[in-house]
Amino acid sequence: MHPRVLVVLALLAAALTPARGVAGPPVGAIIAGPGGATLGYVSKVAVEPQGSPLTFVNADQLAHTVTAVDRDQDGRPLFSGNALPGTTSVVAGVDKLRAGTYSFFCSFHPNMTGTLVVQGGSGGVGASTPRFTTPLRIPRTLTGSHITLKAEQADVQVLPGRPATTMYTFGGSWPGPTIRRPVGARTTVTVVNQLPPAFGAVSLHLHGDHHSSADDGRPDDHLVAPGKARTYTFALKDAGKPERAAFSFYHDHRMDETGRNNWFGLQGMFITDDPAEAHLHLPTGAYDLPLMVADRSFDDAAQLTDPFLAQSAPPGDATTGTRTLVNGSVLPYAPVAARRYRLRLLNSSSFSSYDFHFSDGRPMVQVGNGSALLTAPVTRNDILLGPAERADVVVDFAGPLGKSVILESIARTDTRPGGIGAQATPLMQFRITKRAAQSPPVPAALMPLPALAVPVLPTMTWTLGLGAGASGTTWTVNGKPYDDMRSDTTIELGTVQRWVLVNSSPLTHFVHLHEEAWRTVSRDGRAPPPWEAGFQDTWRLDPGDVVEVAARITDFTGPFLIHCHMLDHEDHGMMATFTVVKPGQKPLLHRHSSLAAITSRYLCRVTKETV
Ligand code: C2O
Ligand code: CU
Ligand code: CU
Repeated sequence: MHPRVLVVLALLAAALTPARGVAGPPVGAIIAGPGGATLGYVSKVAVEPQGSPLTFVNADQLAHTVTAVDRDQDGRPLFSGNALPGTTSVVAGVDKLRAGTYSFFCSFHPNMTGTLVVQGGSGGVGASTPRFTTPLRIPRTLTGSHITLKAEQADVQVLPGRPATTMYTFGGSWPGPTIRRPVGARTTVTVVNQLPPAFGAVSLHLHGDHHSSADDGRPDDHLVAPGKARTYTFALKDAGKPERAAFSFYHDHRMDETGRNNWFGLQGMFITDDPAEAHLHLPTGAYDLPLMVADRSFDDAAQLTDPFLAQSAPPGDATTGTRTLVNGSVLPYAPVAARRYRLRLLNSSSFSSYDFHFSDGRPMVQVGNGSALLTAPVTRNDILLGPAERADVVVDFAGPLGKSVILESIARTDTRPGGIGAQATPLMQFRITKRAAQSPPVPAALMPLPALAVPVLPTMTWTLGLGAGASGTTWTVNGKPYDDMRSDTTIELGTVQRWVLVNSSPLTHFVHLHEEAWRTVSRDGRAPPPWEAGFQDTWRLDPGDVVEVAARITDFTGPFLIHCHMLDHEDHGMMATFTVVKPGQKPLLHRHSSLAAITSRYLCRVTKETV
């Protein structure tokens, strides 16, 4: 056990001993103990006289927070405090609260919940209903076959009425421009790295797409060095046929720095359209809204904090933000017509999950999961999306003019011990302002799933775990942290693979497989739920979950990745390589990059380029 943990365990014991014979909950302290992510806070209730600070004692080996459920009118939690493993912190904002009862949770493990009672007289700050003051931004759309994206520093207006935020972007905005192309239409994307040289090399990964290894946005080869450019080619075809239409995103994937590079802005959406879907009459044009949801924290000067400087080692590494943004704005609103819309929801956060829900219980008809359309629509009340997961939904904003409805994230409804919770927070507001012709209801059948002869026996098992590393703990795949010079399996072109994904660690992971049109075969030994029963590229694995996936391996040889899409986990070892070869060949792992000397993330931390 960490020595600091021992010290804090002593603190904890003292805090739990009723002082001066007073029974009941400890005054002035919230305590998290060992196993807190599963067991919850040790002291779940604190009673505070108004005006006094609240102490948060964290005796666990994971970082935790005490974060208010109630928000101010700008969407900030009324109070929040983080404590790294074995430390104590003061929860900011508690001393300003109005008398009353407040619920709180851990923003890293939202299933940890508790209550704060503030006793006193009048005055102080209480919860406000959120104000939606910024019109929703729709990123500019690029539709050409040759696209150039400058990776550049830009001042982005993120917080309403505050100074612009300096970000590191694709194309000068966050999200970057939305790329929108027909399936099967060859597309090149040239990335010109004009970021400050100290930011270092970047890469662009088109998540969920099928393309060559060199075009995959590799973590440490084929990088775009400062001052240089690189062109990525996406045929948007699979085995000579157009790929299925997808709602996806592109983002930086640089080794050890993916979390940092995405946090500071290197991400944007990518949509492909299939004319073969026209007969479904899903809402189009102004009625088709891509929504990228991500959390970030800002300092008093409206600049992004840099959580990567102080980040702790696994397993306590979790980058979350105090503000949740939609298309790069805090609490935006969108005027809508009283009719059906297609909403494409993307969670591009580093760590947080959201359980999407409408404040009036309005149903969402899920037609796709971002990888493809489903075979049939599924009507859902809430949709849980972890990092990199998407949902393609049709929502009917039918209602009286002047009515508004809030898209929010609610606490996860099916949490299990150790399973990640979802942030409870308002996201954006839809205001019904006009009438328009209704689009037809979603048809009962969407896209059939092409047949695939899935092998009866698994061809590979990937186990996600937590292991011992060079300097403490590390995330692992099959017991080993990521090493760009190691490939864990070689598979032949033309084969069909059946892979087993296993989570043996005590926390949830969201596993992403590159390269192929993967499909879900089973979840925990049963048929997957209908929204997972087709193509998919990212899977939630709660502790103990076992998911089987399959794909035919086509077109491209070379190294590809499997990793957790919680970006701190990815950067801290939870990534591995599989190599595709022509039948009968042996794999070769080449490294082309100028970063060749940097092989360990720990080394990389030490030599880290700062922003
Ligand atoms: Cu969205 Cu390997 O990434
Ligand atoms: Cu926690
Ligand atoms: Cu993970």
